[in-house]
Amino acid sequence: MNTPPKLTIAIDGPASSGKGTMARLLAQKLGFSYIDTGALYRVVGLRATEAGLDLRDGPAVGALAAGLALRFGWTSAGLRIYDGEADLSDAIRNEVVGRAASDVAVLPEVRAALLAFQRALGAAGGVVMDGRDIGTVVLKDAGLKIYLDASAEERAGRRFRELRAKGEDVEQKTVLHEIIARDAQDKGRAAAPLLCADDAVVVDSTGRTPEEVLTEVLALVEARS
Ligand code: DC
Repeated sequence: MNTPPKLTIAIDGPASSGKGTMARLLAQKLGFSYIDTGALYRVVGLRATEAGLDLRDGPAVGALAAGLALRFGWTSAGLRIYDGEADLSDAIRNEVVGRAASDVAVLPEVRAALLAFQRALGAAGGVVMDGRDIGTVVLKDAGLKIYLDASAEERAGRRFRELRAKGEDVEQKTVLHEIIARDAQDKGRAAAPLLCADDAVVVDSTGRTPEEVLTEVLALVEARS
């Protein structure tokens, strides 16, 4: 008898809604692989900036994205992202690269260059993939789709505390404005905008701990398994 394919879980939502934490905890709990697709857009943003490209130049940035040797690694230090042998996992985690990622994510050429790679990672099942267009474009047939949301104020508060913990000198007001601007760019773009799939379950993490949200999501997994 064939073993049934393992569930594929898509988690979408705006910046700092808790998607990464939730996807990681869920993958750990289920023994699934965690795939952070935002890291791919961040690497493209970083590499395009390093190459001195105009981040609005679709054909040039798309060609750069298509030529990257992207690869994920699951190590004791968590999920890592590589371009060839270069581990870029730490270099992509800052506000400048985040903004560049949001800029290049607008370009259809970049989205097309990253699509097959993401689909191949999801094909075998047993994955939790997070991003902005996973349930709507990348894994339209995912067995469970979650749209994880939280108020802009709450997301800005989380981001502010993270940045302060890293020693960055930022103001909460500025972080809130950045979050609102990023939401507008991610939701307003023509190519694969951030939106809630018709068949996604909306989960709101405002005022809740990751453990509380995980309990709700695990109940949804249970119902689909
Ligand atoms: O989740 P994140 O902040 O690491 O994502 C960085 C940027 O990449 C974000 O502004 C939107 C974009 N992104 C996207 O357009 N589609 C995805 N599947 C993942 C991220």
